[in-house]
Amino acid sequence: MLRPWRVGLVAFVLIGISAHATDDRNPFVGDAKAAKAGEYQFRINCALCHGLGARGGGRGPDLTRAQKKHTHSDAEMFQVISNGIPGTAMPANGTNGQGVGMTDEEIWQIITYIRSQEVKAPAKPVGNAEHGKNLFYGDANCSLCHMVEGKGGRVGPDLTGVAGSRTRAAIIDSVRNPSRRLAWGLTEATKEFPQEYESVTVVLAEGKEVKGVTLNEDSFSVQIMDTSEQIHLLEKDKLRSFQKTRQSTMPVYGADLLSDKDLDDIVAYLTSVGAK
Ligand code: HEC
Ligand code: HEC
Repeated sequence: MLRPWRVGLVAFVLIGISAHATDDRNPFVGDAKAAKAGEYQFRINCALCHGLGARGGGRGPDLTRAQKKHTHSDAEMFQVISNGIPGTAMPANGTNGQGVGMTDEEIWQIITYIRSQEVKAPAKPVGNAEHGKNLFYGDANCSLCHMVEGKGGRVGPDLTGVAGSRTRAAIIDSVRNPSRRLAWGLTEATKEFPQEYESVTVVLAEGKEVKGVTLNEDSFSVQIMDTSEQIHLLEKDKLRSFQKTRQSTMPVYGADLLSDKDLDDIVAYLTSVGAK
């Protein structure tokens, strides 16, 4: 069977050959010197999101996992690094956050570096996913604001893929300290950085107050999702007041409210759906 990514890969290879004779094979497999050069490139272009040592950071997944979500072969990894992953924070080569464009050779060096960092044995899974799911939709109230696989609320980001795009430690930190690092929402080509889920309170011309999170914003207008999931598109100069804070709309879940064990179970649930 021809899987969709294979079709993409074939197209990519053909374009590569006609344009600048790109090979789909890593010329540096197992080359320690290339891995060293790749490590340098990685620090400049990738560590901001994927962390030092590629072990994952606040914005991007751990790349030392041998079992990856999008990329299995080196050729697929080349594709992802060149083109990014649409609809996620993973940028294309030479765009937002990835600095100056890298050459093909530099990309292969980075891949060689990532391969050199991979840990074969997967970490033992922690937590009880079944119980975590019950908490998510029950006592912990996460589903009031978050959707997983199409079920739940919309005030906070969809968490279906969060375990694939962020590390376990980063997810736990988002629950314990929501305001420390606000989630990224909308990513647009025209924006240097994606919109963050800031909290807003506005007073409309007629005096009504609306509280919610920013979905999109420019100098003149703002789009808000209020706490009852209504979307408002507002012109800023027509508002009586407009106040934005970096205090998350998500409540702080301290250990008194949600034990470490229960939080592990919720993360296990998110990991079980994120891995699909
Ligand atoms: C602005 C943040 C950001 C930067 C910069 C970034 N990435 Fe990513 N990357 C991500 C996110 C987020 C994902 C996960 C997307 C998803 O599945 O939701 C990802 C996914 C990936 C994947 C796929 C992982 C898998 O499991 O299949 C690879 C490989 C990757 N990035 C490599 C790189 C390399 C190499 C660089 C530097 C050249 C880089 N990334 C720069 C955010 C970033
Ligand atoms: C009252 C609404 C609300 C509730 C209840 C809530 N959240 Fe959130 N959550 C949000 C909002 C809004 C954001 C985006 C702002 C931020 O990053 O804090 C968010 C962000 C997150 C993030 C970061 C996502 C990312 O992509 O970076 C995670 C993880 C998360 N929540 C998990 C949970 C879990 C687990 C629960 C239940 C224990 C929960 N939330 C309960 C509103 C809520």
